[in-house]
Order: sequence, then C-alpha cells, then structure tokens
Amino acid sequence: MTISGSNRWWKSAVVYQVYPLSFADHNADGIGDIHGIIDHLDHIRDLGVDVIWLSPVYRSPHDDNGYDISDYESVDPRFGTIEDLDQLIAAVHANGMKLILDLVVNHTSDEHPWFQESRRAREGVKANWYIWRDPRPGTVGGETGAEPNNWGGSFSGSAWEWVPERGQYYLHLFSKKQPDLNWDEPQVRAAIFHMMNRWIDRGIDGFRMDVINFISKNPAFADGEILPTGFGDGGPSFVSGPLVHEYLAEMKEAVFGHRDGEYFTVGEMPGVTPEQAARFTDQEGGQLNMVFQFEHVELDHDTGKWDYKPVGIIDIKQSLGRWQDTLAESGWNSLYWNNHDQPRVVSRWGNDREYWYESATALATVLYLHRGTPYIYQGEEIGMTNVAFSDVQDFRDIETLNYYETAVNRLGLPSESVLDALRRSSRDNARTPMQWTSETNAGFSVATPWMPVNENHKWLNVAAQRNDPSSILSFYKRLIAFRHATPVVIDGTFEMLLPDDPHVYAFRRQLGDDKLIIVANLSDLRVSPELDLGGLRVVMTNHAQNSTDQELAPWEARVYRPSPGAGSNSASATNS
Ligand code: GLC
Ligand code: CA
Repeated sequence: MTISGSNRWWKSAVVYQVYPLSFADHNADGIGDIHGIIDHLDHIRDLGVDVIWLSPVYRSPHDDNGYDISDYESVDPRFGTIEDLDQLIAAVHANGMKLILDLVVNHTSDEHPWFQESRRAREGVKANWYIWRDPRPGTVGGETGAEPNNWGGSFSGSAWEWVPERGQYYLHLFSKKQPDLNWDEPQVRAAIFHMMNRWIDRGIDGFRMDVINFISKNPAFADGEILPTGFGDGGPSFVSGPLVHEYLAEMKEAVFGHRDGEYFTVGEMPGVTPEQAARFTDQEGGQLNMVFQFEHVELDHDTGKWDYKPVGIIDIKQSLGRWQDTLAESGWNSLYWNNHDQPRVVSRWGNDREYWYESATALATVLYLHRGTPYIYQGEEIGMTNVAFSDVQDFRDIETLNYYETAVNRLGLPSESVLDALRRSSRDNARTPMQWTSETNAGFSVATPWMPVNENHKWLNVAAQRNDPSSILSFYKRLIAFRHATPVVIDGTFEMLLPDDPHVYAFRRQLGDDKLIIVANLSDLRVSPELDLGGLRVVMTNHAQNSTDQELAPWEARVYRPSPGAGSNSASATNS
C-alpha cells in the first residue's frame, strides 16, 4: 500500500506525533489513552497528515513516561489493551493514514524480565544482555568514586548503578531505571529484531527509533572530559559508536529484508553530524529513511540544555542550510521544531504575546517548505505555548526534577534561577494536555489530569480554531495541502537566500521550470528584504492584506511562485 504512488512514499508524507499521556482521556482517569486517540482521529485526518507516530504505549513503570519499557509485547493498562491498539491500527488505516510505533531499544526498564534475570548473577543466559562492569581497581564497589568510569547520565548523576548481587555496576545513559542493553550480544539483537517483526506482522507501518545512534559503545569505556556537572562526557564513546552502522544494517535485513513494500523508519540521533546522517540515510547503502538531528534545537544551549544562550536567525539559517546542502544528493532530512522533548517553538523562537498567530504560522511556513519530511507535534497545529509553571511542584518530568535537585542541592545554584531555566527549557512545556476546548481541563478529561492544563486553553483550543479560516489550525491545513499538491516542495533543490540577513529567512526551491521563493520575516520589526521577485506572485501568505510591495509586516511570511506564463529565471537574491 502506498500513499503517493511512489515507492518512496515517506518523502511526501507529513507526520503527526501523538504523546498518548496528554492527547485525550477516554475512560476518565485523568490519563490519555488509546481510545482517546481513536475519538480524535478525525482531527488528525482533517489536518491532512499521512502518518501518525505514537510515543510509547508499551507496559512500563513510567519512570520516563513510557520510554522505560518492561514488556515490548503488551500495552500498558493505563493506555488500554492490545485489542485497543489493534483497533487503533485498523482505524488509522481506515482513515487513509499509517501508524508508526516508538522503538525504545537502547535500554529497557530495570523492571523488564531480561534485566531482572541479568542482575541476579554473573552467570546465566542473560548475564551479558546489559552492560556490566567491575568497580575501578583498588576501590570498593558502591562507594563514591568506584564507578567504572566518570560518565554522567543524561538525567543527572552518574551513568552507573551498583548491584551488590553481582558485585558490578550497570550502565544507564538515562535514568537508573533505564539500563542500557548490550547490543554486542547477538542474542539481544535477535530478540529485538524478533519483537520488531511481530509488530510489523501486527500491521504497523514502521518505527521511530529512540536514541538509536547510542546503541554501540566503544568497549574501552574511557573516562570523558569533565562537564560543569562534575561528571565526564561519555558521548565520544557512544554517539554514533563503532558498530552502529553494522547493527542497523543487520536490523534492516532482519526486519525489512524479507518484506515487500516500504516501511517508515526514522532514527532519533542526538549529536549526529550531517555527514554521518548522509551515510545513515543514503538511498543505496543507508540503513534508515531519515534521522532526527539535534543541531538546530541545541543552538540556544550554552554549556548544556539548562544553560541558555540567545540564538539569532542567522545561526538557525546556517545550521538548517548546512543540513539541506549536505543531504542534497544522498540521504533525506526530517523537519521538526517540536516534539515531546522540546519547549514549544512559538514561545522559544516566535513571539507568543503580540504576534502569536503570525509567528506560529511564519515558523511553520519556513520549516515545512524545506526539503525533507515534516513532523508536527500535537498542539503545535494550534500554536500551543510554553507554560507559566509557578513552582517546582508543577513539573512531572524526571529529567527536569533530577536537574532541579542536583542544581539546587548539589551545585548550590539559587532556586529561582534554576526555576527560570526549567520554565524555559523543561520538556514538560510540551507535555501539558492537548487543548481541545475552553471547558474544564481543556476537554482533555473530565477527571483531574495527570498534569495540569495550560491556563490559556480558555482561548487557545481546537474548538475555537476549527471553523475559523484565519486560525493557526486552518493555516496548517493549507500548508500541508500545499505541500502535498506541489512537487517542487518535495523534490525540488534548496538554496538559501539572504544568508546574512538577521531578520529574514528566505530560500528558493526549484524543480525544472517550477520554483518557489519563500520569504519570512522572523522578527517584530517591519523589514524590506532585497529580493528580485519579478514575474512571481504570492501563492500563500499568513497575512491578511495581500500587499504588493516587498515590505514585510512583523512575522509576515509569503510563498512566491511564477505567474502563469512568466519566464522561469526571474527571481534571485540581489544582495547575497
Ligand atoms: C529520547 C526520548 C526521550 C527519552 C529518552 C530516553 O530522547 O525522546 O523522551 O527520555 O530518549 O529514552
Ligand atoms: Ca484514561
């Protein structure tokens, strides 16, 4: 089954991410669930998207909201049953869309039976399924400084946890309830590929692969450079590590090699470079359709994610432009501003006060007309914003809470400034319930939600935007429809224009005689970019007055295309 008729159907697809905890609560326990998604499938279908990416719904103790899986084969009771998931798969397909699941196989939960068995003793069938190491020579296990190396975990603290039964440490790059699997053990790979095959046989259309470029660790486990947290940076030993291409090639063969048709694969890859991404996603020898890179969403990180530094339009253009250039010939980009790990883009790089509608739509116009596959995160299509968290009690996310605890109690930073960092950068900004209506709990649930709704749901919600042609939601629908109807958006070349302009984001897409010039003012000022737009007309804009001159209002975005009958070579940047 294909959507576009081309066998690379995923190139023209638009993906919508559902974070099930916060999407819709059907059974009134305050937690989003699978039937809640089924209830709202029409919203996703009417947006015009092709693929739904579902964040994890597997059985899990939810130390990290489901990214800590204790059974890959069953659905967590808080979300429903395996029959409910079958029903969702069928309903998604009946609505002409596809469904991909989150594949979290760098680590499991410490409550997974594999780990329970592995932790018991140094001998046994699963003894080697996780990454176990002795204390440093000359130290006593369990005491400070005895860890096998100096690595810190992504969620604060050491990356090693002591297990007296084995007299060894296990590695956890995330929380201590997320032990890393040992991919060097062939039985681990076989078990994972078997599980993936079972899901494909069940009818899903592919996978989003969690931190998949961390699976291969350099066996030396060398100390890393000391970070401001006091721990060493293990990244060089496991980010796109020694055997990652081999393992992913093996996966591709074992899961997809014997199947007809094309499945959707996207690998989440923190720290991946454009050159590495080109190899991972090469049309011929690559292992994945595309990757999620992190460069643009880390531009405002100084020494780390909680240490903010301002970022300018030029920086964003340079970064995204380099990705476009490097993956122009081989490989494929994924395009995203938001997901369940990122603060809301309209608050981060837009202006969610005076220019909420304008900046949300300008940012969408710019990114989603790049070359690549767009990903829209739930709530982004209505311009959901960051949250005015008042207190540390408002947060739920383990990364956020662990950081607060470390920063205030271990590093001694003032709690008010730590709170400011949380308000700006916490993943919880993305995780408040979806805002369906202006009613109690934003129409998410009739019970008290697991996480409070954003106060602004009273005016910012799906119901208020659904039938309003000048809403962010209506704009997203038009933008997606335009993308689908315009081959130059999918296959055209990309050329950045005005690279040194600090306010304007402009680029050209070209395919044969067709072309588009996208121009957006990503600032609160009025600007007049110097572009030669002769013979072109505006075919899309986020601005009511269709002005004819080149002055752009704050956050105004325009898409130009040749007028019917006009020559093909009439637009170029005059000052670049
Ligand atoms: C990925 C997920 C994130 C999770 C982490 C550990 O980055 O997107 O939510 O916490 O991996 O699984
Ligand atoms: Ca529920």
